[in-house]
Amino acid sequence: MVRVLIVNGPNLNLLGARRPDVYGHITLAELDELCRQWGTELGCEVTVFQSNHEGALIDRIHAAVGRCDGIVINPGALTHYSYALHDAIEAVAIPTIEVHLSDITAREPWRATSVIAPACRAAVSGQGAAGYRRAIELLTSAAAPS
Ligand code: DQA
Repeated sequence: MVRVLIVNGPNLNLLGARRPDVYGHITLAELDELCRQWGTELGCEVTVFQSNHEGALIDRIHAAVGRCDGIVINPGALTHYSYALHDAIEAVAIPTIEVHLSDITAREPWRATSVIAPACRAAVSGQGAAGYRRAIELLTSAAAPS
């Protein structure tokens, strides 16, 4: 069974209350539950993790070595400046899909750049919660253990 780690970064604990016009009304608890359900449908074991702290996210990515076959990550604003997160993803060499609820190319100019992207297999942006499902789908084909 493909083991998928879903990682959510800073401020995503505020989903539902934070800018619902941009991020939707879904809470993080609801999103986590949806991801688990989608994992079951797609034959994956889904584990979820959220932190507001860059180091905690990096530690969790390191800890995924040998335990996870794929990572779905929404790094929040760290997307746009965290070379440390880029390097963590690159270092563990676990297939990783970047996901954003909003379309980061259609907002403030500073959001259009993702420094994480070169370390990721693909990015799914602007599809709301459904983007996490798409990311899990991409991993089930890319990260299936041999
Ligand atoms: C986000 C987009 C980022 O620019 C922002 O800082 C977030 C959420 C998204 O899911 O659309 O926190 O990653």
